[in-house]
Amino acid sequence: MQPKNESRSDRNEPRDPERRRFLEILGAAAGLTAGAIIALPAVSFLIAPLFQSTPRRWRGVGTLDQFAIGSTVLVGFEDASSEAWAGITAKTGAWLRRVSDTEFVAFAINCTHLGCPVRWEDGAQLFMCPCHGGVYNRDGSVAAGPPPASLPRYPVRVRQNTVEIETRRLPIT
Ligand code: FES
Repeated sequence: MQPKNESRSDRNEPRDPERRRFLEILGAAAGLTAGAIIALPAVSFLIAPLFQSTPRRWRGVGTLDQFAIGSTVLVGFEDASSEAWAGITAKTGAWLRRVSDTEFVAFAINCTHLGCPVRWEDGAQLFMCPCHGGVYNRDGSVAAGPPPASLPRYPVRVRQNTVEIETRRLPIT
């Protein structure tokens, strides 16, 4: 028979305060563990790029005799940071100008505003972006429109009669 003054909630409470405290700690630990297990993949996905090195690769884009001095032409290559399964999306390009017998300049193809591909207008000697009217000078500096920075440049070298561009992941502004 139960004592008369014992309420219903009193009957559900553990009588031993140490046991109650232990169960509280156990419950909190189980909650934290479950939360960590759920959050870990998302956190890993978000911070993993901070610890990856930026790949750089020299890519051949043609032989010396393919480029006339003073001309600016589009060359294609595979993105340095592409994945094995990237397929056609791994293809990218640059605007390559032959300045002299041995000197070349390569400009990134993507506008520094929102990344649209710019085109070279030989008559105007300007790079034009079709998306929001961005215009770049011959040297890649901003002439007009919303682009916040000049067109990035790639290092270029000539090895055994082949023009090579050092491809890398470009900054997104
Ligand atoms: Fe080139 Fe906006 S993406 S001006």
